[in-house]
Amino acid sequence: MSTKKIAVTTGGGDAPGLNAVIRAIVISATNRGWECIGIRDGYNGLLQPQQYPRGGTVPLGRESVRGITHLGGTILGTTNRGHPFRYPTPGEDGELVEKDRSDDLVAAIRSRQIDAIIAIGGDGSMAIALGLCQKGLRIVGVPKTIDNDLSGTVRTFGFNTAVSFATACLDRLHSTAEAHRRVMVVEMMGRYAGWIALHAGIAGTADAILIPEIPYDIHKVAAKIKERTRSGRSFSIVVVAEGAHPVGGERLSTGGAIGAAEKLGGIGHQVAAELQEHTGQESRAVVLGHLLRGGSPTSFDRLISLRFGAAAVRALEEGQTECMVALDPPVVRYVPLEEATRRMKSVPLDSDTVLTARDLGVSFGD
Ligand code: F6P
Repeated sequence: MSTKKIAVTTGGGDAPGLNAVIRAIVISATNRGWECIGIRDGYNGLLQPQQYPRGGTVPLGRESVRGITHLGGTILGTTNRGHPFRYPTPGEDGELVEKDRSDDLVAAIRSRQIDAIIAIGGDGSMAIALGLCQKGLRIVGVPKTIDNDLSGTVRTFGFNTAVSFATACLDRLHSTAEAHRRVMVVEMMGRYAGWIALHAGIAGTADAILIPEIPYDIHKVAAKIKERTRSGRSFSIVVVAEGAHPVGGERLSTGGAIGAAEKLGGIGHQVAAELQEHTGQESRAVVLGHLLRGGSPTSFDRLISLRFGAAAVRALEEGQTECMVALDPPVVRYVPLEEATRRMKSVPLDSDTVLTARDLGVSFGD
């Protein structure tokens, strides 16, 4: 299958390493004599080209990707409100409604003589890629998300940077927690999976880690804090994943706009208030939020991003489609998009990481 022109798109929430992937794709593709273009803001550049004064696509050459490996964000822009199968579109009364615009997208891609797409994104972007492949497009996916919740790959890029930053935050919070004899509750992103909270919580020596995979009992978390106080440790660090919820309770969410994902958040403040009530110890909440998505990718994330980008180009050269590049140490391999999107990758409760935390005396509130 001959490839002459490819398009690159970045979709969903940004993650450190996106620019490194783009650089690897562009250099690897142009070295093969292929033309490379970038689509602005997910697929919005093709679905709403009139919104872009300089066009919804950008030519990508060697010059456009110089010096970007270490930069956070994405030079192409991104969106999490651009699902082509559920595109937010003004209805008859002017209110936004979801409309299937996938055929418009396929037509726009064909009219630009784009032979294949490399779609960099998380679960949503991979599901979109699968749907577009089923409409005849050639697509290779690259797994991105700080949440690390994509199946088929041991790691997504962005996760290591988020965990490193979160760990550094926990290190800083220790001294102020100790100085004031407080309980510091730290809420971290991760959607419905607890990967970031678990890894940063262990590395940053938290006393309790609450993750969506293990519903918690606040009394058990409070008991852990009181036990520390009795043993002379008068401060505690509690990490809470944004999707964590009590036994029998719901996760906290503010819903989602038309065409957008559910917005999680608020559990940190709730847990802090409840712990203060149950322990009598002053408790404060810190929400790391989007800070986890910023900054320069760690060397680990840069390396897998560059490997993923180059592997995606090799996949196209080999005639692959409907697949995602994936880290399966020590190699990068291709997994079918169907496998990558079948289910969310949660923290396995019998993993040695969870067992390590338990062995170290960390409370999961269970
Ligand atoms: O998926 C990445 C992520 O940062 C999640 O951890 C978080 O729930 C979500 O995106 C936040 O999205 P937004 O930036 O749209 O609020």
